[in-house]
Amino acid sequence: MEPVTALAHPNIAFIKYWGNRDDELRLPSNGSLSMNLDGLFTRTTVSFQPSLPLDELIINGHEITGPALERVSFMLDLVRGAAKMNQRAEVISENNFPAGAGIASSASAFAALALAATRAAGLDWSERELSRLARRGSGSACRSIPGGFVEWQAGTSDEDSFAFSIAPADHWALADCIAIVSAAHKKTGSTEGHAIAETSPLQAARVADAPRRLDLCRAAILNRDFDSLASIVELDSDMMHAVMMTSSPALHYWQSASIAVMESVRSWRRDGTPACYTVDAGANVHVLCPENDAQEIASRLREIDGVKDVLTARVGGPAEIVENS
Ligand code: PMV
Repeated sequence: MEPVTALAHPNIAFIKYWGNRDDELRLPSNGSLSMNLDGLFTRTTVSFQPSLPLDELIINGHEITGPALERVSFMLDLVRGAAKMNQRAEVISENNFPAGAGIASSASAFAALALAATRAAGLDWSERELSRLARRGSGSACRSIPGGFVEWQAGTSDEDSFAFSIAPADHWALADCIAIVSAAHKKTGSTEGHAIAETSPLQAARVADAPRRLDLCRAAILNRDFDSLASIVELDSDMMHAVMMTSSPALHYWQSASIAVMESVRSWRRDGTPACYTVDAGANVHVLCPENDAQEIASRLREIDGVKDVLTARVGGPAEIVENS
């Protein structure tokens, strides 16, 4: 069968996904909302081959085995089941963003894999079906299938838990300036983190209030209202980290440089510069701002002690099929 190549962008959540109501199906405890990151991508080629005894995975030129390969094979099994075929596949994947830069590659990786693998197996799935499939690899990957500003409705079952675009990439010229404070691999990955979210006494309150935060964030995006976006995005990030810090075992992702960046961003905003922060399951700080201010924000971030580098991304489009390279 012909190899197929797909490309997908990572995304940064404005309203975070943390905790599952069903770990196996990756049905989230709450809905979430994100922006795709243009310029950063995973490009993945899948070819099903009758001669292969096992699935093979090559990431950035290195053959990968163990849990990462098992996670890929799990998704390929879902595709084989749907296509009623049993050939093993060769999966060749590349990220154009630095490994260990602390930007989650699982979202772009499983979105690109879902699209490339289904097409390579002869399936022509809708965006919704692809989003549901990507979700099974990594929850946030379902948000990297549609383009622009994307909402993942939590749903109650495999069928109704998927993501869709609420506005295209050109709706609002925002940028994400990612302050890299640590290139180290995170100690506790998100899959383990989701599984202990419920141990925090704060998680129930965070989940109960999520529809309100989603409404505020959605409205801020649709109205291009940066002030409203800034307050709800920072509140949501702080609430997720409060849950992380109070779960057992406790998860502390912030480092002193992360806190220094967050403090600076708050003071810039008090002085009238539109910028706000959000932090995922790591120490790096994503600073959102209007695209026109990105250069200025990036150079200010570089001056903060402990900031090693800054990557800047605009709003990205959907996962797509590309020419085989
Ligand atoms: O998709 P996962 O399992 O890597 O979880 C993502 C979790 C956060 O990045 C912290 C939040 C989010 O919504 O992206």
